[in-house]
Amino acid sequence: MLTGGEVTAVLDRQTAVMEQLASDAPLSQVLDSIVIALEELIPGSRCSVLLLDEDGVLRHGSAPSLPVEYSKAIDGLAPGPLAGSCGTAVHFEKPVIASDVTTDPRWQDFRGLAQAHEIGACWSSPIRSRSSIVGTFAVYDRTTHKPDQREQELVRRFSHLASIAVDHDRAARQREAHHQADLARQSAERANHAKSQFVTSLSHELRTPLQSITGFAENLKTLQLSPDQRQKALDGIAGAADHILSIVDDVLDLARVEAGAMPIQLEPVNVRQAILVATDLMQPLATQRRITLQCSGPALFVQADRRRLRQVVLNLVSNALRFSPSDTSVHVSTEARGQTVEIHVVDEGPGIPRDLLNRLFVPFDRLGADAGREGGAGLGLVLARRLTEAMCGSLDLDSCVGKGTRATVTLSACHDATSPSDTLRGRSLSQD
Ligand SMILES: Nc1ncnc2c1ncn2[C@@H]1O[C@H](COP(=O)(O)OP(=O)(O)OP(=O)(O)O)[C@@H](O)[C@H]1O
Ligand SMILES: [Mg+2]
Repeated sequence: MLTGGEVTAVLDRQTAVMEQLASDAPLSQVLDSIVIALEELIPGSRCSVLLLDEDGVLRHGSAPSLPVEYSKAIDGLAPGPLAGSCGTAVHFEKPVIASDVTTDPRWQDFRGLAQAHEIGACWSSPIRSRSSIVGTFAVYDRTTHKPDQREQELVRRFSHLASIAVDHDRAARQREAHHQADLARQSAERANHAKSQFVTSLSHELRTPLQSITGFAENLKTLQLSPDQRQKALDGIAGAADHILSIVDDVLDLARVEAGAMPIQLEPVNVRQAILVATDLMQPLATQRRITLQCSGPALFVQADRRRLRQVVLNLVSNALRFSPSDTSVHVSTEARGQTVEIHVVDEGPGIPRDLLNRLFVPFDRLGADAGREGGAGLGLVLARRLTEAMCGSLDLDSCVGKGTRATVTLSACHDATSPSDTLRGRSLSQD
């Protein structure tokens, strides 16, 4: 029986453990507290907790006073009829008292280990959770020893506490697993929704040019057309087919880059050359729209995929030209910023309202722009951003309604390859 003073000591320690549980302390820490509390109440003893894992073997839980080598040696112990005190206690689901391990048959395979670590007696009790055994609580003595009633009472109380700690830990893990599963489900649902949305938008985008092809083809088949009208119908078919092709190309690129399957070859690329190639290609559109296309800034080298960098700049310059009014200018510039290089594409167009900026990178979202007006499918920016990210860079847009839009591509600088004297020197392509 416990004396009045001991009951108070037990209660104090139980309360301390309960407080640890309430504050969600890690299981190992709670088990250490339980084991240390019992060692204090049974002077001279060394205690341990082993936990049964999913594979049915006993794993180290807590043994602050036992030699680490001993704990390591019995970690992974399989329960059985002759598996020391702990393994046997789990096997028969009842306490095992080996009051002299040198003669106890259940210790026959562990005698050398016991001798090496001064173990004379070991008494182990199964820790029961609600429906099953979850581990063992062991009390070791250096000499032969039989537990008295008081010790048995103490072990009963502290095993119960250990079972509460294990249950608490399992419940917390289950909650966390449910939470993670919930997050994964939500993210899968979002991805699924985005995919359906994408497919719906894609079929809608393809239907428009397909309908015009069908319409022109019908005209060619049924109507008596003049050579002029005939040519117009054929041009209409070619234009619609080109549009379909460009959508399909962009969708395939987007799918490849999002699947991480886009071959990207990073190498030092001269940004000046990439910009000049892209702006030269865009010059006819600039001339047609009466927009001045200018380039400036130092010639710098970046880590990029030459072809994909050109595709990104083309996308941005084409947006700047198509969405800006005549008699404005579009300025492409480079800027060194520490370990990075920025490419800016700045226009004097209508700008984009702040609340629409986060929709810029949503496939097929043209921010309500009239579908036919500028003929785009709404894939350019999302593709440009994904390509830039695949080159380990970033793409951002900043805009001010009534003033214009600035697109910034940031890429890693390649300092070794830079040639500072080589600059774009305010070259105005429209005047070339
Ligand atoms: N420089 C800009 N100025 C004003 N609006 C812009 C600018 N760049 C993009 N936008 C707006 O963002 C939308 C999405 O741009 P994005 O480049 O993704 O598609 P798009 O140009 O419409 O079509 P695509 O690039 O596939 O041919 C555009 O439809 C337009 O409304
Ligand atoms: Mg575009």
